[in-house]
Amino acid sequence: MTPFESSRQQFPRGFTIIGTGRLGSSLALRMHNKGYQIRSLYNRSLESCERIASVTETEIFGTFPARPADLGDVVFLCLPDDQIGPFAKKMGVVKEGPAWVHTSGATPADVLLPLSPDGSGIASMHPVQTFTIRNRESAFNQCFVTLQGDPGLCVPLEKVIQAIGGRPLMVDSRQKTAIHLAAVYVCNYMAPLFAASQDLLDDNGLEVRARDLFGPMVRQAMDGLLSHSPAEVLTGPVLRGDTGTIDRHLQVLADSPKWEHLYRVLGKATLELAQSLENRNHAADDEMMKRFSGT
Ligand SMILES: NC(=O)c1ccc[n+]([C@@H]2O[C@H](COP(=O)([O-])OP(=O)(O)OC[C@H]3O[C@@H](n4cnc5c(N)ncnc54)[C@H](OP(=O)(O)O)[C@@H]3O)[C@@H](O)[C@H]2O)c1
Repeated sequence: MTPFESSRQQFPRGFTIIGTGRLGSSLALRMHNKGYQIRSLYNRSLESCERIASVTETEIFGTFPARPADLGDVVFLCLPDDQIGPFAKKMGVVKEGPAWVHTSGATPADVLLPLSPDGSGIASMHPVQTFTIRNRESAFNQCFVTLQGDPGLCVPLEKVIQAIGGRPLMVDSRQKTAIHLAAVYVCNYMAPLFAASQDLLDDNGLEVRARDLFGPMVRQAMDGLLSHSPAEVLTGPVLRGDTGTIDRHLQVLADSPKWEHLYRVLGKATLELAQSLENRNHAADDEMMKRFSGT
């Protein structure tokens, strides 16, 4: 039996999605296109939910579930993180109700305890992916999706994840937070680094966008980082021990002090990474460390 067939058998009444924003709409479309029944859809504002419902052929939709019978076997709560707990409290325990699953990366499954005080039938299911616009169903391809919560629910949800093209990963609540935190470094924190880059160009009279100027180089660097370890792809003045270049950078940063601290912190981390490499000349390391430490 395929993952799709076995999960469809396990959840014959289909699925409900509450919150048809970036992730919820993408999940609804993906599940529908893979053959699952989207039994009902709900969203704070009716318009976006109505639009998705017409595509997923979902007849039951609205702003809040009116009757337990309208819910599928599994309800995905694709709500802003801070709305999940209040929603669970508002909904309360539904007798002989569905399983409840939220999609937040940073919130443990037990935020759903108001829906099931003994913890049965609740879980979190977090796609480790960024959904920047609504209806981005292809983003599930090969995407890791963490599962945490009631094992009796997580095991069949693994099949659903496989059937929509994702890669399930069982985690406990601490590991879930660690994954979310680790993702912040490689994804979220890229944005301020690009902002720093643009400010430095602007502050020095360069009328060019950082993304245009550095695009080809960033793509090369990303290709390297996605196929090798971080230390293996290291280049630049720290690896070479070019203390004079670091001094010149710091002189320019004297006029853009907002980004100086970040430069020193990341310089120190880069030096520590370089020091893990064998066959490297360490002669300039102490001098570089002094500059990054500001001593
Ligand atoms: N986007 C991502 O990249 C991503 C990736 C992984 C996990 N997640 C998680 O997925 C969840 C949703 O994120 P998102 O980015 O999809 O958020 P979003 O685009 O802001 O969508 C949230 C949706 O929830 C609706 N909503 C808010 N409060 C509601 C309520 N009380 N009842 C019913 N609907 C309500 C909003 O309705 P309105 O249309 O009225 O605003 C909106 O459509 C979050 O927990 C997030 O951490 C997101």
